[in-house]
Amino acid sequence: TYVVTDNCVRCKYMDCVEVCPVDCFYEGENMLVIHPDECIDCGVCEPECPAEAIKPDTEPGLEKWLTVNAEYADKWPNITVKREAPDDAKEWDGKPNKFEQYFS
Ligand code: SF4
Ligand code: F3S
Repeated sequence: TYVVTDNCVRCKYMDCVEVCPVDCFYEGENMLVIHPDECIDCGVCEPECPAEAIKPDTEPGLEKWLTVNAEYADKWPNITVKREAPDDAKEWDGKPNKFEQYFS
């Protein structure tokens, strides 16, 4: 599966939802997550994310993000249509540890 990681938080560009063939993105207030049981590992979303927030779970050190994506994909609503990113998305791009403060 692929996972959404910290740099999505408050960037939330949503380009990813447009390309996912199985519509497996779920939306919180400040970030999206991928449903691990629905993702077919096609990889097309990874290069589409302007914040480079999407990673394959074959990369080391992503255990936390696997847990986050699995937990919130079950709680948040499905998103299939891209909207405008937040006005200040660029200002948040690259800031560290955004999830700890603004995960929802
Ligand atoms: Fe969707 Fe493919 Fe990305 Fe999985 S890897 S979330 S199936 S676009
Ligand atoms: Fe987030 Fe990147 Fe999608 S910033 S909403 S994972 S395009």
